[in-house]
Amino acid sequence: MLALPAPAAQVQEGRQVMSLDRGWLFHLGDVPMPKIVGHEDTYRNAKAGNVWGAAALRFNDSAWRKLDLPHDWAVEGPFDPSANVSQGYRPRGIGWYRRYLRIDEAKRGRHFELQFDGIATNATIWVNGTVVHHNWSGYNASRIDITPFLRYGDALNTIAVRVDAEAMEGWWYEGAGIYRHTWLVETSPVYVPTDGVHATPREGRNGAWSIPVEVTLANSGHDPAKVTVDVAVTDPSGRQLAHGRAQATVAVLGQGSVNIPLAVAHPALWSPAHTSLYKVTTTVREKGVVVDELALNTGFRTLRFDPQQGFFLNGEHMKLQGVCIHQDHAGVGVAVPDSIWEYRLRRLKELGVNAIRFSHNAPAPEVLDMADRQGFLVMDENRNFNPSPEYMAQLQWMVRRDRQHPSVILWSVFNEEPVQGSEVGYEMVRRMSAAVKQLDDTRPVTAAMNSGFFTKLNVSNAVDVLGANYQVKDYDRIHAAHPDQPFTSSEDTSAFMTRGEYIGDKEHNVIASYDDDHARWGNGHREAWEAIDTRPWMAGGFVWTGFDYRGEPTPNVWPTVSSYFGIMDLNGFPKTAYYMHQVQWLRDRPLVYIAPHWNWPGKEGQDIRVKVMANVERVKLLLNGRELGEQQVDRYRMNEFKVPYQPGRLEAIGYKGGKDVARAVVETTGPAVRLELVPDRPALAGDGRDAMPITVRALDAQGRAVPVADPLVTFAISGGGKSLGHGNGDPNSHEDEKGNTRRLFNGLAQLIVQSDWNSSGTLEVRATAPGLQAATLSIPLRATAQPPFVPAVASPVAYLDEWRIAPASAQRPDPQAKPAANDMNSWTLGMPALRKEAAAARYQLYRAEFEVTPAQAGGRVHFVGLRGKAEFWLNGEQVKARSSAAPGEYIVALGQARGPATLVVISEAQAGEPAGLDGTVSVEPAQ
Ligand code: GAL
Repeated sequence: MLALPAPAAQVQEGRQVMSLDRGWLFHLGDVPMPKIVGHEDTYRNAKAGNVWGAAALRFNDSAWRKLDLPHDWAVEGPFDPSANVSQGYRPRGIGWYRRYLRIDEAKRGRHFELQFDGIATNATIWVNGTVVHHNWSGYNASRIDITPFLRYGDALNTIAVRVDAEAMEGWWYEGAGIYRHTWLVETSPVYVPTDGVHATPREGRNGAWSIPVEVTLANSGHDPAKVTVDVAVTDPSGRQLAHGRAQATVAVLGQGSVNIPLAVAHPALWSPAHTSLYKVTTTVREKGVVVDELALNTGFRTLRFDPQQGFFLNGEHMKLQGVCIHQDHAGVGVAVPDSIWEYRLRRLKELGVNAIRFSHNAPAPEVLDMADRQGFLVMDENRNFNPSPEYMAQLQWMVRRDRQHPSVILWSVFNEEPVQGSEVGYEMVRRMSAAVKQLDDTRPVTAAMNSGFFTKLNVSNAVDVLGANYQVKDYDRIHAAHPDQPFTSSEDTSAFMTRGEYIGDKEHNVIASYDDDHARWGNGHREAWEAIDTRPWMAGGFVWTGFDYRGEPTPNVWPTVSSYFGIMDLNGFPKTAYYMHQVQWLRDRPLVYIAPHWNWPGKEGQDIRVKVMANVERVKLLLNGRELGEQQVDRYRMNEFKVPYQPGRLEAIGYKGGKDVARAVVETTGPAVRLELVPDRPALAGDGRDAMPITVRALDAQGRAVPVADPLVTFAISGGGKSLGHGNGDPNSHEDEKGNTRRLFNGLAQLIVQSDWNSSGTLEVRATAPGLQAATLSIPLRATAQPPFVPAVASPVAYLDEWRIAPASAQRPDPQAKPAANDMNSWTLGMPALRKEAAAARYQLYRAEFEVTPAQAGGRVHFVGLRGKAEFWLNGEQVKARSSAAPGEYIVALGQARGPATLVVISEAQAGEPAGLDGTVSVEPAQ
């Protein structure tokens, strides 16, 4: 019979998903592992739980910085011209994180999974001194069963993470650190593993749908589990539509699974316009008691890529009006709060985007939830092209995690791989595609090729949908060569614009926003879309890119640090490209826009190039009420006028069927006189997570935003929140994104604020600039139920749980005795237990080496239980003697001991009486 720890006092049923984002300690730079030379140290170092250095269970991290996740340290640092251009001249380097975790005694027997949604880039993770995971991709999650390593009660658990962000997986800014959320998922010993519910709807005949639900089960307990699994589907109003049940037996430390087919008649279909989400709830019961319950969202929709007619959603033709995006935002780097992602997606929706390619990696899980809710079609893309086991596991992780999302319509296995035109590329994709299909056969597989389409054997032979990057000139040839294969542009455009600039300046890396400039391999925004829109067999396209991003400052280099490709800048402020696409993509809404702004002092009488972007039939332009001309709208190339500058009001009127249906105006403003702060939303949730962008502008005396204003603004924030950073969209700006000042760039900057944990009241923002009236903003903080989180614990208490214990002896041992460095066997290694010795072996010597940290200086060693007489030797000196034989607690003062210390206890037993250490021993700070 196994001697197991006492069963938990009170077992909690079901699962708890708790945020672990709060309460981390961070050290920038590597903490090299101490060099080990001695045999004993070498031996110990090789044992579970015994890692050295900053990963060790006990390590002096008292000087480390305290922070909450998500965190990107690269964006905190200065720019460095000698750093990598593609990563935006941000040094990345190496960093360490540590966190302590207290798990209640009552939770013994529960199952615990530690989850990191994303760490940039190479991560090594230890729990209680044992390495538990390596993850060599910055874009996939680490999920680690930490149950066997845990300690309960006051003996804290230590998580340590070493992040090597010198490792690169991309050619864009990748950030550095634990930049997505972290979680502790607690379940019963019988549980559904993460991503263990597969519930992808399938269409049958005549509006009948089914969801063949497959539930995987696991058991980390001590007995086989007989479980009943219920799955139910509820509609968006919460009404249950279908239910099924199955039984399973799950072996000890084994897995099981059940298949439960559910039938759903005539569900409301999901589409970007109507995001009807249904819930699949799985409930696992053992002996009638719920042991696990979890829910996921899914949606009913069909997709079809047709080689001749393009893409169909729910049987209706739809052109993919897509953008590619990376995952960094102004002020925050890649540590983008969920609510800022919501803002980014909202901006794309307003632009008329219906599809997103998360290039070139899977996004954070919350972002896909938003894509489901906000209504986008998603190309979900794997980062590393490699079918070898470790990398295949990255691809499988993505498919398993994301396959229930109705938004996901395509799996992409690569982007522009040099082997794409060869047999090697074909064989690699063939394997990766098969691995995808094994997990999800409801969506096509694609790969973003940029050559190799015409070789005898190439990647196109192994994918369902042909994806082409930048092949405008060859679209027709590719289609002719693959007439039976659906075809989409997977990436196009790569045009350059600096937001708010209309006069290019090569010397200063400024690019005008008229859509004149693009990469050699790319096209202007308008021609790229025309090429797609005019070919009925093209499913659609994905503009490179929706937003600017750090790094890849093509066509420039230093001092430019971020890209020019975005339809919007790094803050989500529109460039001219925004209007060009919006008028094409929102065809139902009559729209007219004018570029540029109308502040051109000194250019009176000179011709200004005016672009009018419209989706109506005709446009007329007027300056100060005087007609300048009327043109037939060119829906692809847009319209252009030359207008001799005169300050005032430039107006465009759009006509349809002879009727004036839309207008746009730009006006010459006066000089800026005051600042303005425009919040994105009326309030913030006081949960320490909610964040919002605030637009910072300068207004003239009439309250008009001045498009050329560039004052240096200073921010002061008070109340229940903080600044997370700021940006202004200037690709050449080297300002500190975290400081308290920011210059407006072409009239705009963005400040991102976040509520504090458990805050209420208000967050106050004050913006000042020399010569301008200050602006203040008071953002209400809604007191919110705090999402479940694992309390941050900081403990200066260390547990002495690794002792060298000498063999019991009849003679009092020498307190200075220690085992030979090459002798791992004569003395025991581990935690002492109470002993009952024969009179002949009365003495027992225990020896522990530890570190007295600054916090513990002047503190004490606390023996929870001690029996019998004992002597205590600290650093070779006897410091105390215990004369009582009775059991009890015992304290030994640390006195002047600092740094490395050795404690020796010699216990002496009375004949036949138990004696020695009995229970935990802790090093504690002075009380
Ligand atoms: C493509 C590539 C993108 C980006 C873009 C810039 O070749 O897929 O990641 O580098 O070029 O034009």
